Amino acid sequence: MVKAKITSLGHYVPEKILTNFDLEKMVETSDEWIVKRTGIKERHIAEKNEYASTMGVKAAKLAIERAGISPLDIDIIICATITGDYVTPSTACIIQSEIGAEKAFSFDISVACSGFLYAISIAEKFILEDPSKKILVVAVEKLSSITNWQDRSTCVLFGDGAGAAILESDENSGICKTFLKSDGRLYDYLMVALGGSHEPLDINNINSPLRYLTMQGNAVFKHAVNKMLESIEKVMELSFWKKEDLKMVFTHQANIRIIESIRKSLDLEEEKVFINLEKYGNTSAATLPIALDEAVQKGLLKRGDKIILSSFGGGFTWGAISIVW
Ligand code: COA
Repeated sequence: MVKAKITSLGHYVPEKILTNFDLEKMVETSDEWIVKRTGIKERHIAEKNEYASTMGVKAAKLAIERAGISPLDIDIIICATITGDYVTPSTACIIQSEIGAEKAFSFDISVACSGFLYAISIAEKFILEDPSKKILVVAVEKLSSITNWQDRSTCVLFGDGAGAAILESDENSGICKTFLKSDGRLYDYLMVALGGSHEPLDINNINSPLRYLTMQGNAVFKHAVNKMLESIEKVMELSFWKKEDLKMVFTHQANIRIIESIRKSLDLEEEKVFINLEKYGNTSAATLPIALDEAVQKGLLKRGDKIILSSFGGGFTWGAISIVW
């Protein structure tokens, strides 16, 4: 049976690193608090002239090169981002132009931190419809552009970066089962309230903190634990996999305590749960492809391994996908 397989990956993070010690000089916080409460030590921050598309193009070019294909082979580009270059056109269209993928059609999706999961799930549907399709998924965030650098409860959490994946059909391995979910009733727990059509930015609200990302941290924390856990268990059940079958689980990288709580509930060994948040913080949609690419580059994954990806983010949106790598 045909499956949609991630045949290659690439990622890019900006050169500039902002450490917890740098943040100590910006807001009333400490390296000790941030490490203890979140696990994050540093994050990468884009330069002013480095946009979502700039980072996305770098990750995409790497994934294309590693797949051994030409940009002209790409049929579809899906970009998952909430911090695109412009309101319109889509960042996917900018990336298409920059990499010269003239044959493709391109579009963005807005699913916050769950963007990569949703994007590869959409890619899967196109591949099952026509197995000849080659699809580029880019997940990229310049969260520094919507971060309130005066709010210690959020600014210590986020970072910038991009991940990209090429998806193609395969007879043996690839995406097995998908579980995606949202609960829009909780939309205002994690949001940027100003700058959309609900309340456009103007001279009266331009300095309001509501133009930045605001979050009800404790509630987000609890939902993130429960919903990712539920999703992982669901796709394990749908895939008929036991925990012994799993090579590795990749969760959203927002807080070490969220990841540890999920790991303990699943009764998984430490080495079966990938963690890299100490270096990047929460890079929203880019988190999962950055983590996956790092795991592959470190030789932690080999073809045929059973893995699960899970994420949780604004909306709320969440889910999990089981993959035979
Ligand atoms: N440095 C020092 N103190 C801080 C701080 C910081 N950066 N941020 C908050 N605090 C303080 C608070 O003001 C509070 O002080 P008070 O008790 O005097 O009022 C205290 O630390 C505890 O705050 P609380 O919000 O209860 O901390 P917490 O342990 O819940 O951690 C988060 C806060 C944000 C780290 C945590 O809630 C979290 O990770 N939430 C989920 C984040 C997430 O996953 N987001 C994205 C999902 S996609």
